[in-house]
Amino acid sequence: MLELKKRKTIFLTRKIPEIAFRLLREEGHIIELWDGTSPPTPGELIQKCQEADALLSMLSDRLDENFFKKCSHLKVIANYAVGVNNIDLKAAARYNIPVGNTPDVLTEATSDLALGLILTLARNIFPAIQNAKQGEWKKWEPLGFLGMELKGKTLGIIGLGRIGQSLAKKAQNGFGMNIIYTSRTKTKTINPSYKRHTLQELLKSSDIVSIHTDLNPSTENLIGHKEFEIMKSHAYIINTARGEIINQKALVGALKMGLIGGAGLDVTTPEPLSPNDPLFQTPNTIITPHIGSATVEARDLMATLATKNIIAGLKGEPLPNRL
Ligand code: DGY
Repeated sequence: MLELKKRKTIFLTRKIPEIAFRLLREEGHIIELWDGTSPPTPGELIQKCQEADALLSMLSDRLDENFFKKCSHLKVIANYAVGVNNIDLKAAARYNIPVGNTPDVLTEATSDLALGLILTLARNIFPAIQNAKQGEWKKWEPLGFLGMELKGKTLGIIGLGRIGQSLAKKAQNGFGMNIIYTSRTKTKTINPSYKRHTLQELLKSSDIVSIHTDLNPSTENLIGHKEFEIMKSHAYIINTARGEIINQKALVGALKMGLIGGAGLDVTTPEPLSPNDPLFQTPNTIITPHIGSATVEARDLMATLATKNIIAGLKGEPLPNRL
């Protein structure tokens, strides 16, 4: 009887790596996996959570005041992401529901992708692949696809947290880039060769600007028309953080007017982006479907961390990664 009482139901909004299912079953819990082809709507999410004790949510699930009002019985929520801008944390606190996330484990995967977007733009890799594939490769071109070397160029990092620092290290040690950054907090452990700048100075001086800050009211639309005007006309903007940090209408304008040299985006507003979105018509723009953490290693560890948050929360213990 006691054993049965300990069994709890966890609603999981998308299939995640197997390790999560194994760990939860080892604890004797029941997993209710959403079986729709699209993610649950806010109404479906609330409905499914009525039968659950805990929720394992994705960054695409919106957990707002109304959700918390209707699901105040939940014992714990674990977000399968480091970013938690999809969750109203103040409402969670009001209803006394602990919320956990998955920091650290996706740092290398995300900084690798930022570097991939930088290289793809700087060396014209995407148009070059299309050229070869479409039979346009007739002869060796002495002046074809000329790109920009990274050595000696300035990488401006907006937000020097875990992912920003990981990118800085790879870009400096591996590619010989100069690193400048903006940061809201003063961290003592930052490499002294990285130079801290104001946002304006950083935008003015960078050959590549990469965004690694979280989305909050002070970073929403942080980069708009005024900021693109300050940037060098050959500079690239990279965003693997959250789409809303860039004013997307202003970005389309800046790319069309040639105010900047290109954009590498793993995140957009909205997600998914419609194939008819004007961003797909802008020059030198590469877009990936929010795959920053999409490595086998990172996603396995994210699944493990999220599951550990759930298990601890259901026991009434402190979450390993509580917000
Ligand atoms: C996160 O965890 O916030 C990332 O955006 C997922 O890729």
